[in-house]
Amino acid sequence: FQERKVMMKKISIAIDGPSAAGKSSIAKIVAKKLGYVYIDTGAMYRCVGYYCLQNNIDLNNETAVSAILKNIKITMDSNNRVYLNEHDVSDQIRQDEVSMSASLVSSYQDVREFLVKQQRKMSNVGGVILDGRDIGTVVLPDAKLKIYQNASVETRAKRRFLENKKRGLSADLETIKKDIEQRDYQDMNRKISPLKKADDAIVLDTSNLSIDEVVNEVLKLAKQREMEG
Ligand code: DC
Repeated sequence: FQERKVMMKKISIAIDGPSAAGKSSIAKIVAKKLGYVYIDTGAMYRCVGYYCLQNNIDLNNETAVSAILKNIKITMDSNNRVYLNEHDVSDQIRQDEVSMSASLVSSYQDVREFLVKQQRKMSNVGGVILDGRDIGTVVLPDAKLKIYQNASVETRAKRRFLENKKRGLSADLETIKKDIEQRDYQDMNRKISPLKKADDAIVLDTSNLSIDEVVNEVLKLAKQREMEG
Protein backbone atom coordinates (compact mmCIF):
# COMPACT_ATOMS: atom_id res chain seq x y z
CA PHE A 1 0.00 0.00 0.00
CA GLN A 2 2.77 2.39 0.93
CA GLU A 3 4.59 1.75 -2.31
CA ARG A 4 1.44 2.51 -4.23
CA LYS A 5 0.97 5.67 -2.25
CA VAL A 6 4.47 6.85 -3.10
CA MET A 7 3.62 6.54 -6.78
CA MET A 8 0.49 8.67 -6.44
CA LYS A 9 0.98 12.28 -7.25
CA LYS A 10 -1.28 15.11 -6.22
CA ILE A 11 -2.77 16.75 -9.28
CA SER A 12 -4.70 19.88 -10.25
CA ILE A 13 -8.39 19.45 -11.02
CA ALA A 14 -10.40 21.97 -13.06
CA ILE A 15 -14.20 21.99 -12.88
CA ASP A 16 -15.95 24.35 -15.28
CA GLY A 17 -19.56 24.75 -16.26
CA PRO A 18 -22.54 27.10 -16.21
CA SER A 19 -24.11 28.72 -13.16
CA ALA A 20 -25.74 26.51 -10.56
CA ALA A 21 -24.57 23.25 -12.13
CA GLY A 22 -23.45 22.09 -8.67
CA LYS A 23 -19.73 22.57 -9.29
CA SER A 24 -18.88 23.91 -5.85
CA SER A 25 -20.85 21.25 -3.97
CA ILE A 26 -18.93 18.56 -5.80
CA ALA A 27 -15.56 20.32 -5.61
CA LYS A 28 -15.84 20.81 -1.84
CA ILE A 29 -16.55 17.15 -1.15
CA VAL A 30 -13.91 15.88 -3.57
CA ALA A 31 -11.31 18.24 -2.08
CA LYS A 32 -12.04 16.98 1.41
CA LYS A 33 -11.85 13.33 0.38
CA LEU A 34 -8.55 13.80 -1.46
CA GLY A 35 -7.03 16.21 1.05
CA TYR A 36 -6.82 18.90 -1.62
CA VAL A 37 -7.25 22.67 -1.40
CA TYR A 38 -10.52 23.93 -2.87
CA ILE A 39 -10.54 27.32 -4.62
CA ASP A 40 -13.91 28.84 -5.48
CA THR A 41 -12.98 31.26 -8.27
CA GLY A 42 -16.58 32.43 -8.73
CA ALA A 43 -16.44 33.76 -5.15
CA MET A 44 -13.55 35.99 -6.21
CA TYR A 45 -15.57 37.57 -9.05
CA ARG A 46 -18.45 37.89 -6.59
CA CYS A 47 -16.17 39.81 -4.18
CA VAL A 48 -15.33 42.32 -6.91
CA GLY A 49 -19.02 42.73 -7.81
CA TYR A 50 -19.98 43.02 -4.15
CA TYR A 51 -17.32 45.65 -3.48
CA CYS A 52 -18.64 47.73 -6.40
CA LEU A 53 -22.23 47.49 -5.14
CA GLN A 54 -21.18 48.44 -1.61
CA ASN A 55 -19.16 51.42 -2.79
CA ASN A 56 -21.59 52.72 -5.41
CA ILE A 57 -19.22 52.02 -8.28
CA ASP A 58 -21.01 52.05 -11.64
CA LEU A 59 -20.75 48.43 -12.78
CA ASN A 60 -21.06 49.45 -16.41
CA ASN A 61 -18.06 51.78 -16.14
CA GLU A 62 -15.10 49.52 -16.89
CA THR A 63 -12.52 52.20 -16.03
CA ALA A 64 -14.14 52.83 -12.65
CA VAL A 65 -14.20 49.10 -11.87
CA SER A 66 -10.53 48.72 -12.89
CA ALA A 67 -9.60 51.58 -10.57
CA ILE A 68 -10.95 49.90 -7.43
CA LEU A 69 -9.12 46.59 -7.94
CA LYS A 70 -6.14 47.88 -5.97
CA ASN A 71 -8.41 48.20 -2.92
CA ILE A 72 -9.47 44.58 -3.03
CA LYS A 73 -7.88 41.78 -1.03
CA ILE A 74 -9.55 38.39 -1.19
CA THR A 75 -8.66 35.46 1.06
CA MET A 76 -10.22 32.09 1.79
CA ASP A 77 -9.80 29.79 4.76
CA SER A 78 -9.85 26.02 5.05
CA ASN A 79 -13.55 26.10 5.93
CA ASN A 80 -14.27 27.72 2.56
CA ARG A 81 -15.13 31.07 4.14
CA VAL A 82 -14.43 34.03 1.87
CA TYR A 83 -12.94 37.28 3.18
CA LEU A 84 -13.00 40.62 1.39
CA ASN A 85 -10.49 42.98 3.03
CA GLU A 86 -10.54 40.78 6.16
CA HIS A 87 -14.37 40.79 6.42
CA ASP A 88 -16.22 37.52 6.11
CA VAL A 89 -18.57 38.06 3.15
CA SER A 90 -19.33 34.38 2.48
CA ASP A 91 -23.08 34.81 2.87
CA GLN A 92 -23.50 38.28 1.38
CA ILE A 93 -21.84 37.34 -1.93
CA ARG A 94 -24.48 34.64 -2.60
CA GLN A 95 -27.29 37.18 -3.12
CA ASP A 96 -28.80 37.23 -6.63
CA GLU A 97 -27.85 40.86 -7.10
CA VAL A 98 -24.21 39.97 -6.47
CA SER A 99 -24.39 37.04 -8.93
CA MET A 100 -25.41 39.40 -11.71
CA SER A 101 -22.79 42.01 -10.81
CA ALA A 102 -20.09 39.31 -10.69
CA SER A 103 -21.08 38.12 -14.15
CA LEU A 104 -20.88 41.70 -15.44
CA VAL A 105 -17.47 42.60 -13.98
CA SER A 106 -16.09 39.22 -15.06
CA SER A 107 -16.26 40.42 -18.67
CA TYR A 108 -13.60 43.07 -17.99
CA GLN A 109 -10.01 42.30 -18.94
CA ASP A 110 -8.41 44.02 -15.92
CA VAL A 111 -10.67 42.15 -13.53
CA ARG A 112 -9.85 38.81 -15.14
CA GLU A 113 -6.10 39.47 -15.17
CA PHE A 114 -6.18 40.58 -11.55
CA LEU A 115 -7.99 37.43 -10.40
CA VAL A 116 -6.43 34.85 -12.73
CA LYS A 117 -2.97 35.86 -11.49
CA GLN A 118 -4.04 35.21 -7.90
CA GLN A 119 -5.75 31.95 -8.83
CA ARG A 120 -2.59 30.60 -10.44
CA LYS A 121 -0.55 31.61 -7.41
CA MET A 122 -3.03 29.96 -5.03
CA SER A 123 -2.89 26.79 -7.15
CA ASN A 124 0.83 26.47 -6.72
CA VAL A 125 0.52 24.24 -3.67
CA GLY A 126 -0.01 20.82 -5.27
CA GLY A 127 -3.34 19.07 -4.87
CA VAL A 128 -5.90 21.70 -5.81
CA ILE A 129 -9.39 21.73 -7.17
CA LEU A 130 -10.69 24.92 -8.75
CA ASP A 131 -14.17 25.57 -10.05
CA GLY A 132 -15.21 28.34 -12.41
CA ARG A 133 -15.72 29.09 -16.09
CA ASP A 134 -12.20 29.32 -17.54
CA ILE A 135 -10.15 27.01 -15.32
CA GLY A 136 -9.48 24.29 -17.89
CA THR A 137 -9.13 26.73 -20.78
CA VAL A 138 -7.17 29.63 -19.26
CA VAL A 139 -6.24 29.43 -15.57
CA LEU A 140 -4.83 25.88 -15.50
CA PRO A 141 -4.59 24.64 -19.11
CA ASP A 142 -2.25 21.85 -17.92
CA ALA A 143 -4.60 20.52 -15.25
CA LYS A 144 -4.39 16.71 -15.17
CA LEU A 145 -8.15 16.37 -14.82
CA LYS A 146 -10.70 18.67 -16.42
CA ILE A 147 -14.42 18.28 -15.88
CA TYR A 148 -17.17 20.20 -17.65
CA GLN A 149 -20.14 19.91 -15.34
CA ASN A 150 -23.52 20.68 -16.82
CA ALA A 151 -27.22 20.21 -16.10
CA SER A 152 -30.46 21.37 -17.70
CA VAL A 153 -31.64 24.91 -16.91
CA GLU A 154 -34.70 23.46 -15.15
CA THR A 155 -32.57 21.29 -12.88
CA ARG A 156 -30.18 24.11 -12.10
CA ALA A 157 -32.99 26.56 -11.31
CA LYS A 158 -34.66 24.05 -9.00
CA ARG A 159 -31.40 23.35 -7.18
CA ARG A 160 -30.66 27.04 -6.72
CA PHE A 161 -34.25 27.62 -5.55
CA LEU A 162 -33.89 25.02 -2.80
CA GLU A 163 -30.43 26.28 -1.86
CA ASN A 164 -31.65 29.88 -1.56
CA LYS A 165 -34.57 28.77 0.56
CA LYS A 166 -32.25 26.89 2.87
CA ARG A 167 -30.04 29.95 3.21
CA GLY A 168 -33.09 32.10 4.00
CA LEU A 169 -32.62 34.14 0.83
CA SER A 170 -35.53 35.29 -1.33
CA ALA A 171 -36.45 32.62 -3.82
CA ASP A 172 -38.74 32.76 -6.81
CA LEU A 173 -38.30 29.90 -9.26
CA GLU A 174 -39.13 31.83 -12.43
CA THR A 175 -36.82 34.74 -11.54
CA ILE A 176 -34.01 32.33 -10.70
CA LYS A 177 -34.48 30.54 -14.02
CA LYS A 178 -34.35 33.82 -15.95
CA ASP A 179 -31.26 34.94 -14.03
CA ILE A 180 -29.51 31.66 -14.80
CA GLU A 181 -30.35 31.93 -18.50
CA GLN A 182 -29.10 35.50 -18.61
CA ARG A 183 -25.86 34.61 -16.82
CA ASP A 184 -25.34 31.63 -19.13
CA TYR A 185 -25.66 33.95 -22.07
CA GLN A 186 -23.32 36.59 -20.63
CA ASP A 187 -20.70 34.08 -19.50
CA MET A 188 -20.70 32.16 -22.79
CA ASN A 189 -20.70 35.18 -25.07
CA ARG A 190 -18.23 37.57 -23.48
CA LYS A 191 -15.13 38.36 -25.53
CA ILE A 192 -12.47 37.39 -22.98
CA SER A 193 -12.26 33.82 -21.67
CA PRO A 194 -15.89 32.88 -22.26
CA LEU A 195 -17.31 29.76 -20.64
CA LYS A 196 -16.32 26.95 -22.96
CA LYS A 197 -15.56 23.28 -22.58
CA ALA A 198 -11.81 22.65 -22.85
CA ASP A 199 -11.03 20.21 -25.67
CA ASP A 200 -9.69 17.68 -23.19
CA ALA A 201 -12.45 18.08 -20.58
CA ILE A 202 -14.77 15.24 -19.61
CA VAL A 203 -18.44 16.22 -19.76
CA LEU A 204 -20.61 15.29 -16.79
CA ASP A 205 -24.31 16.01 -17.23
CA THR A 206 -25.62 15.90 -13.69
CA SER A 207 -29.33 16.48 -14.44
CA ASN A 208 -30.20 12.94 -13.42
CA LEU A 209 -27.37 12.20 -11.03
CA SER A 210 -27.22 12.53 -7.26
CA ILE A 211 -24.39 14.41 -5.56
CA ASP A 212 -22.92 11.07 -4.43
CA GLU A 213 -22.90 9.72 -7.98
CA VAL A 214 -21.11 12.78 -9.34
CA VAL A 215 -18.61 12.80 -6.46
CA ASN A 216 -17.82 9.11 -7.03
CA GLU A 217 -17.28 9.66 -10.73
CA VAL A 218 -14.92 12.60 -10.16
CA LEU A 219 -13.05 10.70 -7.42
CA LYS A 220 -12.60 7.71 -9.71
CA LEU A 221 -11.17 9.91 -12.47
CA ALA A 222 -8.96 11.82 -10.03
CA LYS A 223 -7.49 8.62 -8.60
CA GLN A 224 -6.74 7.34 -12.10
CA ARG A 225 -4.91 10.55 -12.90
CA GLU A 226 -3.05 10.50 -9.56
CA MET A 227 -1.78 7.01 -10.38
CA GLU A 228 -0.59 8.17 -13.77
CA GLY A 229 1.36 10.83 -11.88
O1 DC B 1 -19.50 30.31 -10.11
P1 DC B 1 -20.27 31.56 -9.68
O2 DC B 1 -21.72 31.51 -10.03
O3 DC B 1 -20.07 31.86 -8.23
O4 DC B 1 -19.60 32.77 -10.52
C1 DC B 1 -20.10 34.08 -10.50
C2 DC B 1 -19.77 34.77 -11.83
O5 DC B 1 -18.36 34.96 -11.95
C3 DC B 1 -20.19 34.01 -13.08
O6 DC B 1 -21.45 34.42 -13.55
C4 DC B 1 -19.11 34.31 -14.09
C5 DC B 1 -17.92 34.74 -13.27
N1 DC B 1 -16.82 33.75 -13.27
C6 DC B 1 -15.92 33.80 -14.29
O7 DC B 1 -16.07 34.58 -15.22
N2 DC B 1 -14.83 32.97 -14.29
C7 DC B 1 -14.65 32.10 -13.29
N3 DC B 1 -13.57 31.30 -13.30
C8 DC B 1 -15.59 32.01 -12.23
C9 DC B 1 -16.68 32.85 -12.26
